Amino acid sequence: MKTQFPDDFLWGGALAANQVEGAWREDGKGLSTSDMLPEGIFGQVVERRPGDFSIKDIAIDFYHRYPNDISLFREMGFTCLRVSVAWTRIFPQGDEREPNEAGLAWYDKLFDELARHGIQPLVTLSHYEMPWGLVQNYGGWGNRKLIAFFERYARTVFTRYRSKVKLWLTFNEINMSLHAPLTGVGLQGDCTKGDIYQAIHHQLVASGLAVKACHELIPDARIGNMLLGGLIYPLTCKPEDVFAALQENRRWQFFGDVQCRGHYPGYIKRDFREQGIELQTEPADFDALRHTVDFISFSYYMSGCATADVSQAEKLRGNILDMVPNPHLESSEWGWQIDPIGLRTLLNTLWDRYQKPLFIVENGLGAQDKPDADGQINDDYRIRYINDHLVQVWEAINDGVEVMGYTYWGPIDLISASKAEVAKRYGFIYVDLNQDGSGTLKRSRKKSFYWYRDVINSRGATLKR
Ligand code: BG6
Repeated sequence: MKTQFPDDFLWGGALAANQVEGAWREDGKGLSTSDMLPEGIFGQVVERRPGDFSIKDIAIDFYHRYPNDISLFREMGFTCLRVSVAWTRIFPQGDEREPNEAGLAWYDKLFDELARHGIQPLVTLSHYEMPWGLVQNYGGWGNRKLIAFFERYARTVFTRYRSKVKLWLTFNEINMSLHAPLTGVGLQGDCTKGDIYQAIHHQLVASGLAVKACHELIPDARIGNMLLGGLIYPLTCKPEDVFAALQENRRWQFFGDVQCRGHYPGYIKRDFREQGIELQTEPADFDALRHTVDFISFSYYMSGCATADVSQAEKLRGNILDMVPNPHLESSEWGWQIDPIGLRTLLNTLWDRYQKPLFIVENGLGAQDKPDADGQINDDYRIRYINDHLVQVWEAINDGVEVMGYTYWGPIDLISASKAEVAKRYGFIYVDLNQDGSGTLKRSRKKSFYWYRDVINSRGATLKR
């Protein structure tokens, strides 16, 4: 068997605007949901006042330091960088008729810099943020008007960057709205499951319209969806547990089913019926849903279990999903259970279900990196984590799964999404920054930097199998 990955496999890293850019009020940027959650997705909404401080306001200052960071990515051999556009840089309130030219110009510079280094951008339209104006004035995605606002935003950026960006994603981890409705669909306060699915319906329609617009405006581009790949195993082989796992998996597969097949699956209709959920829809919505994605992208950090036995369901909070812990797996410092084989299972599952190309756009290990006496960070734990996951990607490719690429999450230390922590570091590149904002923001290479460079240069031949 060949040990190398295919020639056209894309290698790189993944970032999100609100976790790296900083410059939160520069060049006319509006307030986003992320700005209003200074302690992360699972924190409280905080009224932002002049002079107050959130670590996300500066983040790692990618807004000003991107040329240097991109040259470091190039040094590792990246052929692809996943970034997101901050919607609020383009439409600060979300409902303007005309876009903010300064925001558009900044992403032009970013994409030009990537092109100079031969790095292909993979761009997420909405990564865990939306204009706060749309939450305050319209009630977020609960309001059907959001579809048109999002379509205008998507068409604006497709038109502007049509010659620069050929790979697009619609909504980051679209299934996470079920777990964090404010970040996912801009719903505040108490909301019912029906409210959330109504907002999700609007977002799925908007996603379909974005796919349509992308195909019209950039015929040689490809556009994918983005799922949080929450792979669930049955806790035991009891038929009840096996069925519970099937149902849990459908909670995220539902999004893939709609975005890849173009219609609502029977199991969700039953669920809606039994729970008295009646979605408000219009006939045109179903035409929009028929514009299915070209490829499927997903994040994968961990797997979990499901059981029908509620008393056993001692829950472990992993990022966003509550999952029953797997007694056979070890965990990261943040309690995320590490399961490289699960990535092969997930790739095969998605391929068998949809037969669309797959792109792993997030996978990574958050850890507290401690410099040694010489100031070096020997992050062997991170190397082991990535090595073991990439070996499973290679296995899946040999199983016949079509995999477009791998963008490691957090190639440079950034602000974590769930709790806005600096201490949870993912990077190959260390950033001198503390939670209170102190630090020089200087970048330095960790041991994993050189290791990943060698993996990319050898197209995976240096992986330990
Ligand atoms: C994914 C998100 O859920 O997980 C990223 O798309 C996020 O934005 C990543 O950063 C890791 O989560 P955390 O909370 O460790 O940053």
